[in-house]
Amino acid sequence: MQKLADKTALITGGNSGIGLATAKLFSAHGARIAITGRNPESLQQAQEILGEDALVMQSEAGRLDDIDNAMAAVRERFGRLDVLVANAAVALPTPFAQVTEAQFDDINAINYKGVFFTIQKALPLLSAGASVIVTTSISNQAGAPNFSVYAAGKAALRSLVQSLALELIDRGIRVNAISPGPIDTPGFGRWDIPQEAVQAIREEFVRRSPSKRFGRADEVAQAALFLASTDSSYVVGAEIVVDGGFSLPL
Ligand SMILES: NC(=O)c1ccc[n+]([C@@H]2O[C@H](COP(=O)([O-])OP(=O)(O)OC[C@H]3O[C@@H](n4cnc5c(N)ncnc54)[C@H](OP(=O)(O)O)[C@@H]3O)[C@@H](O)[C@H]2O)c1
Repeated sequence: MQKLADKTALITGGNSGIGLATAKLFSAHGARIAITGRNPESLQQAQEILGEDALVMQSEAGRLDDIDNAMAAVRERFGRLDVLVANAAVALPTPFAQVTEAQFDDINAINYKGVFFTIQKALPLLSAGASVIVTTSISNQAGAPNFSVYAAGKAALRSLVQSLALELIDRGIRVNAISPGPIDTPGFGRWDIPQEAVQAIREEFVRRSPSKRFGRADEVAQAALFLASTDSSYVVGAEIVVDGGFSLPL
């Protein structure tokens, strides 16, 4: 059964990892798809995967004029939005003592400010009954050494989800969060550190995981499908943790 027939969905960061898996699953469930991303090659690949009817946009997540342009393109092509997945983010490991103001501003522009204004600027397009899904991270509560800016930004998003859930429910718009744990995506490990260090981090995550493995992007997409569809019609301001038990206390 198609769960998103006649629905229109915009997924930011839809050309890679969790966002692309979500776009594919939503498309298989009948949704009209719009995505944003940065990398021209993976945007082109996403267009081929999602088909020519998908609206694929190069759009810088932290730039308000780009967000305006993306919303204008969605309005022109589809007229409205029923599902918004605010998912684009970067995660760059840096010891706290070495975080520069420029890094702080860049990461927060993409991960926090970008999500905030993406939802705000989508508001005029969001239909009654729309679902807004924000990709946060289990680090929003647990914190993450060497990812202090990222984790704090994700905590801000978790708070934002609750504020907006309360503020927008009168319009029939449900706002919820998905918090992934370690998920095997192109983004995980695309860091400016030696590959051996990336491998060591991966092995440590697997060792600590109750499930003894990374999650797959499509496993996170299934949670997004639940929140996007009327299956979750009474789920408001919630956080679905998809982490194989990683954040459970030992
Ligand atoms: N993978 C994990 O273990 C994990 C764990 C917890 C939370 N998450 C969250 O899950 C979400 C998806 O991450 P992922 O793991 O799927 O990583 P990914 O494969 O790197 O995907 C990230 C997406 O965000 C886009 N993006 C990043 N910076 C952007 C910018 N400045 N402007 C526009 N688009 C931008 C990327 O586009 P380009 O590729 O074109 O730059 C890409 O499509 C993120 O919110 C991440 O924080 C992931």
